[in-house]
Amino acid sequence: RVPTVGIDIGGTKVMAGVVDAEGHILEKVRAETPDKSKSPKVVEDTIAELVLDLSDRHDVHAVGIGAAGWVDCDRSRVLFAPHLAWRDEPLKDALTARLAVPVMVDNDANTAAWGEWRFGAGRGEDQLVMITLGTGIGGAILEDGRVKRGKYGVAGEFGHMQVVPGGHRCPCGNRGCWEQYSSGNALVREARELAAAESPVAYGIIERTGGQLPQITGPLITDLAREGDAMCVELFQDIGQWLGIGIANLAAALDPSCFVIGGGVSAAEELLIDPARDAFRRHLTGRGYRPEARIVKAQLGPEAGMVGAADLARLVARRFRRAN
Ligand code: BGC
Ligand code: NA
Ligand code: ZN
Repeated sequence: RVPTVGIDIGGTKVMAGVVDAEGHILEKVRAETPDKSKSPKVVEDTIAELVLDLSDRHDVHAVGIGAAGWVDCDRSRVLFAPHLAWRDEPLKDALTARLAVPVMVDNDANTAAWGEWRFGAGRGEDQLVMITLGTGIGGAILEDGRVKRGKYGVAGEFGHMQVVPGGHRCPCGNRGCWEQYSSGNALVREARELAAAESPVAYGIIERTGGQLPQITGPLITDLAREGDAMCVELFQDIGQWLGIGIANLAAALDPSCFVIGGGVSAAEELLIDPARDAFRRHLTGRGYRPEARIVKAQLGPEAGMVGAADLARLVARRFRRAN
């Protein structure tokens, strides 16, 4: 029952933590995600450095990775990652060789779903859908305590369902993907656009950043929204509405009892979830004549993916010990 390390690799940040068997975080460290233009090896270096740092103070027996990408059915290679440089990357083998402990690799939203099901808002749910709002939108389907992986490992890529034909270009190669309308990137893009246009509603954020567009980030927009800045509140209403519409579509396809909303953007809480619930109710097919799924915030917040990855690593390490 020793602690394991969980690592969440998103499009913006890498978070690594030592997590015990009850899902408690004993220590957490973080780094910026290396730029997409850098080689995949640089991301591996970042992971190895964080694990090495934690190993100074903790006995690390296994490492679990939740990666913002499409992980194959063997949970070994990252096939593709819209926000990272991985293209058919043998991540598990590369990290096992470097870290010399058992390594588990899975999609970041899959590990978040697992974390919430084991220790968070999804406990006791046998039909759960996880949606993480970060740089993009991550998704996972958890049924009877198992993440549904599809035939090739990439089930749950909800962020790349087309919601606006001919809409914004997405780094996955398509246009109009859901994550272009309801994610941290969407929030920042819209805020910067309004500031660049010197829209009267943008005066608050222009003043706060001295008109420096790169200083407009998701956390700043969240802070301003909490302070009541009208534009930032409106932006959360917009992405919340897109979130609710997407959830209504997912309810039509999957009919879970519970949607858990996580990722960095979910820190905005009611500012995001309330408009999402409204839009969900207005767009749900057969509304009034069917049970409605609950929409709840991730209890582990932005740490769900890290905690879930650590817990999955524990299972993999146990299997590894039995086999050897
Ligand atoms: C990727 C997913 C990932 C999500 C959240 C999406 O753009 O396609 O694999 O889970 O972002 O990080
Ligand atoms: Na997924
Ligand atoms: Zn896309």
